[in-house]
Amino acid sequence: MGYTLLFFFILLQSLNLFAISTTLKPNFYSHACPKAEFIVKEVMKKAMKRETRSIASVMRLQFHDCFVNGCDASLLLDDTPNMLGEKLALSNIDSLRSYEVVDDVKEALEKACPGVVSCADLLIIAARDAVVLSGGPYWEVKLGRLDSLTASQEDSNQIMPSPRSNATYLIDLFSRFNLSVQDLVALSGSHSIGKGRCFSIVFRLYNQSGSGRPDPTIEPSFREKLDKLCPLGGDGNVTGDLDATPELFDNQYFKDLVNGRGFLNSDETLFTNSITREYVKEYSVDQERFFKDFAEGMVKMGDLQLGRPGEIRRDCRVVNSYRPRVEVLFETSNKKG
Ligand code: HEM
Repeated sequence: MGYTLLFFFILLQSLNLFAISTTLKPNFYSHACPKAEFIVKEVMKKAMKRETRSIASVMRLQFHDCFVNGCDASLLLDDTPNMLGEKLALSNIDSLRSYEVVDDVKEALEKACPGVVSCADLLIIAARDAVVLSGGPYWEVKLGRLDSLTASQEDSNQIMPSPRSNATYLIDLFSRFNLSVQDLVALSGSHSIGKGRCFSIVFRLYNQSGSGRPDPTIEPSFREKLDKLCPLGGDGNVTGDLDATPELFDNQYFKDLVNGRGFLNSDETLFTNSITREYVKEYSVDQERFFKDFAEGMVKMGDLQLGRPGEIRRDCRVVNSYRPRVEVLFETSNKKG
C-alpha cells in the first residue's frame, strides 16, 4: 500500500500535476547565513549609487520570474545549447536589465556563505530593498525557495503580458495566479519607479487598436510630450519615465493615471476600466493604503511555487551540474601542473 502511494506520488510529480510547495518563512537564513539580507541591501545600495534606475530594473525581475513557473530564478538562467532560456522571451528581450547587479549580489552572498542562499530568494529580497531604497514600504520577506534546474522561453512568451494589455485581460491573468483585482492595481504601482521604451508605447501614440489614431485617453499635453520623445519611425529604444517621479516610490503613478498621464496602455487602462478605477482613485489619495496593499501583493506573488525539484545555484546564470565539468577539467589540469 505504501509503495503504491509512493508510486502515484512520484508519477504525479513527474507529470507535474500537482505541486509540493516548500514552506517559506521569515528569517530562513538566520542560522546558515545571518547576514544574508544585510549583504543584499548593501550591494543594492551600491548599485543605486552607480545608476539609480538599476534597482527598479532588479525589482521588475521578481514579477518576470514569479509568473513563469513560480519564483525559482528560472529567469536568470542563460541559454545553453540544449535550452532556450527566458531572457530572450518576448517581454524580456532588450527590456529586462541589470542582471549584473544580481551577479554582484550573488557573488557577495557566496563569499559570506557559499552554497546557502538561493538566487530565487535573492530576487525576492532585492525587490523589497529596491522599494525601500526608493522611499517605499518595508515588508518582511518569506524565504527558503530553491532555484530551478531549467527555464522555459515558451512559457514566458505565453504568460507575460504585453504593454498593450487591457484591464480585463490583466484581471483574468492575475486571477490565474490567485491574485485579486486589488493585487493587480497595487502591484502595477511598481511602475512608480523606472522607465519604459518608446517601443512599448508607439502603437498607442499613432495607431491605438489599429485605428490609425492615438489612444484618446491620453491627456493632450502629455501626448504632445510623448510624441516628441517617441516620433513615428523613431528609435524604439529611447526611454521615458513611467511616472512623474521615476526615482521615488510613491503614489504619483496613480495621480498620473487619474490625469490621463499613464505611460503604458496597461497602466492607463486601470483608470479607464470601471472595476480597477476604484482602486486607482483610492491609491491616488491614500499613499499609506497603496503601500500596505503593495507589500501584501509582493508577498502573495512571492508565494508562487510549482514545487519542482531544485538546488541552490552557485552562479545564478547556470545550473550547478553545468559547471563541475569545467571545474573538474580545471582541477585536473591544475593537479598535473
Ligand atoms: C500588470 C501587468 C504589467 C505589465 C503589462 C507590465 C509591463 C511593463 C513594460 C512594458 C515595461 C517597460 C518595458 C520596456 O519598455 O522595455 C515595464 C517596466 C517595469 N515594470 Fe512592469 N508590467 C506589469 C506589472 C509589473 C509588476 C507586477 C512589477 C513588479 C512588481 C513591474 C515592475 C516594473 C518595473 C520596476 C519597471 C521599470 C523597469 C526599468 O526601469 O528597467 N511591472 N513593465
